[in-house]
Amino acid sequence: MDLFEYQARDMFEAHGVPVLAGAVADTVDEVRAAAESIGPRSGGVVVVKAQVKTGGRGKAGGVKVAKSVDEAAAAGEAILGMDIKGHTVHRVMIAQGASIDEEYYFSVLLDRANRTYLAMCSKEGGVEIEQLAVERPDALARIPVDPNVGIDEAKAREIVDAAGFDDADKDAIVPVLQRLWDVYREEDATLVEVNPLVRTTDGAIIALDGKVTLDENAGFRHPDHAALEDARSADPLEAAAKEKHLNYVKLDGNVGVIGNGAGLVMSTLDVVAYAGEQVAADRGLDTAPKPANFLDIGGGASAEVMADGLHIILGDAQVVSVFVNVFGGITSCDAVANGIVGALDKLGDDATKPLVVRLDGNNVEEGRRILAARAHPLVSIEETMDGAARKAAELAATT
Ligand SMILES: Nc1ncnc2c1ncn2[C@@H]1O[C@H](COP(=O)(O)OP(=O)(O)OP(=O)(O)O)[C@@H](O)[C@H]1O
Ligand SMILES: [Mg+2]
Repeated sequence: MDLFEYQARDMFEAHGVPVLAGAVADTVDEVRAAAESIGPRSGGVVVVKAQVKTGGRGKAGGVKVAKSVDEAAAAGEAILGMDIKGHTVHRVMIAQGASIDEEYYFSVLLDRANRTYLAMCSKEGGVEIEQLAVERPDALARIPVDPNVGIDEAKAREIVDAAGFDDADKDAIVPVLQRLWDVYREEDATLVEVNPLVRTTDGAIIALDGKVTLDENAGFRHPDHAALEDARSADPLEAAAKEKHLNYVKLDGNVGVIGNGAGLVMSTLDVVAYAGEQVAADRGLDTAPKPANFLDIGGGASAEVMADGLHIILGDAQVVSVFVNVFGGITSCDAVANGIVGALDKLGDDATKPLVVRLDGNNVEEGRRILAARAHPLVSIEETMDGAARKAAELAATT
């Protein structure tokens, strides 16, 4: 889960990372109130910043300096509602204005390829760091961080030495990097990035902008993290699926997909997309049927899980047909077939769209027999994955 800048700022503050005063506002009136309370700390100057989970806000006009409450209100008026790379700005942060001398870059992240953590640091922050990394890789120090040791004082020194800071700056930056490591470790983050980390004209080192990605697999250790979720931009179907502990991702097409096992579901998406293209070509359609979602119901495809999954998919108004693709393993096909039958009975009149079912694997004959015996008018059984995908795509194309 990615955090908004203001959430990262609060998290930094809680771990002793030096940050500027800041307050959030959802309306122009709130911007005014925030500027009135924060402005006096910095000679009346505040910065109004769009809170969106994408980079390059400044370039898009989403970061504005204001020298008075009126200017702040005007900036808030301009930024609230703005679209930045497809993200609508619902909230701004009003930050204390800083008198910046220099802008640096620091991040610590999970380095999957090398199975370790990696700290990156540069004396040249503020700019597009990706560009710096490509054009002048030497200007960006990359130091592996042993997860068992972390960024202690010695490691922080190694980082600032590699980045080439002046001696006076090194002493000031080292403890800040240690506190940023505390954020990374104690909050179970996979990314903590500060761009820019600034030195102000009076010599203070401050994290002016923050990006934090939290590892949701560690959510059980952090009950407070749930409150950081962005309910406003969450897809309602995804939210409902999450509540039922289903691995569901909403996509744009019209063929609902249910399968057991992430790998099988991924390949089902490919096969449905391919079949959709073929059906569209055969029939001269402008838009091809495409997968409407990813849904992995996992190993034990019980009637309840199947019903929950179907309920979510049928709740997607874009869905026209559903492809249930199950490979029986430890949970055998007869159990899955009973799950499907039970789910349809459970859903009753809520089951309104055709289901194409392909079963294979352990005890497949019995599974198919159970489905055939139930003879549900919405269910058709196909023997192969390709055949089922084709059928589901055809059903989605005809309406
Ligand atoms: N509180 C502040 N006081 C003074 N200047 C600021 C302040 N906040 C930001 N700035 C200036 O604006 C620039 C851009 O700000 P910031 O890094 O927060 O946004 P951004 O980099 O455009 O957004 P993103 O990090 O999402 O790409 C900073 O590099 C800094 O020069
Ligand atoms: Mg930035």
